[in-house]
Amino acid sequence: MTALRFLYDCDPGADDALAMLLALGRPDALDMIAVTCVAGNVGLEPVLNNARRILELAGRQDIPVYSGAARPIMASRGRVSIMHGSDGLAGSTLPAPTMPLAPGHAANEISRIARAEGKLHICATGPLTNLALALLLDPELPEFLSAITIMGGAAFCPGNTTPLAEFNFAVDPHAAAIVFDSGIPLTMLGLDVTRQAVVTADMIHQVQQIGTAVAQEAAHLLINYGSKDPCLHDPAAIAWMLKPEMFETVRAHVSICTDGGATAGQVIAAVSERHVAGRSPNSSIVTGVDAKAFAQLFVKALGGKQ
Ligand code: RIB
Ligand code: CA
Repeated sequence: MTALRFLYDCDPGADDALAMLLALGRPDALDMIAVTCVAGNVGLEPVLNNARRILELAGRQDIPVYSGAARPIMASRGRVSIMHGSDGLAGSTLPAPTMPLAPGHAANEISRIARAEGKLHICATGPLTNLALALLLDPELPEFLSAITIMGGAAFCPGNTTPLAEFNFAVDPHAAAIVFDSGIPLTMLGLDVTRQAVVTADMIHQVQQIGTAVAQEAAHLLINYGSKDPCLHDPAAIAWMLKPEMFETVRAHVSICTDGGATAGQVIAAVSERHVAGRSPNSSIVTGVDAKAFAQLFVKALGGKQ
């Protein structure tokens, strides 16, 4: 099986960092060809630093990191999350990055790379601002995207940032709306499933036994981030790309609330024929996961095993 080439758009963030280490631990199956960064969990500068700190830890300075949106499309300023610590990696002792940023803005680079690849898979685990900007700048972009795997949203459960909205969609509801209106094949891993993909003491213990620098950092993140938010949101998106059979999905027509009030970022998921009301489903919502299989896949990958 040839490895799936994909672009990773993210806002590291501890769980984005764990998602990166999961993906990089499985080069047999996933080929992360570029990273684009967006402000989210923390501001753009620490996000850019963290993406490069993790790539350098994994010895993958060859993967280009592109800077992207420092704020949402419409909101005056993006929220930041209190879950990831002021540095965004739960107080990691990783050194500051030495690898330079790659030239170009994420929105332009997403378009350029997609066109060069012909058909590009994107995994997005932060606010969708870069992706939305890319779609606005290049209306033909959907022709060059095979699929988008998204961590974001809360379809059938309460939000985590507001009662109705999950963080990534709450930060930039307009970007999420643009992406879900794009017609690109979408898989949405929202809180519906990521609340089932949680850190366990056994997982931490197993990772601590691996004994590599990558595993040591992963254990740090699992312990220090996991103590605030035990859900492995972003690693679940990578796990979907690795082993979709571990998950349950439902086809739905998803729209995103963009008015600025209490519903901003809310996912309206129409599943029944009556609710879909003649519209075509535009995404697969992931609703369940075999948590044991997920944990096993995650720990094995951190040890560089299949
Ligand atoms: O709601 C959780 C999501 O928001 C995760 O992707 C986390 O990293 C933040 O971006
Ligand atoms: Ca994230």
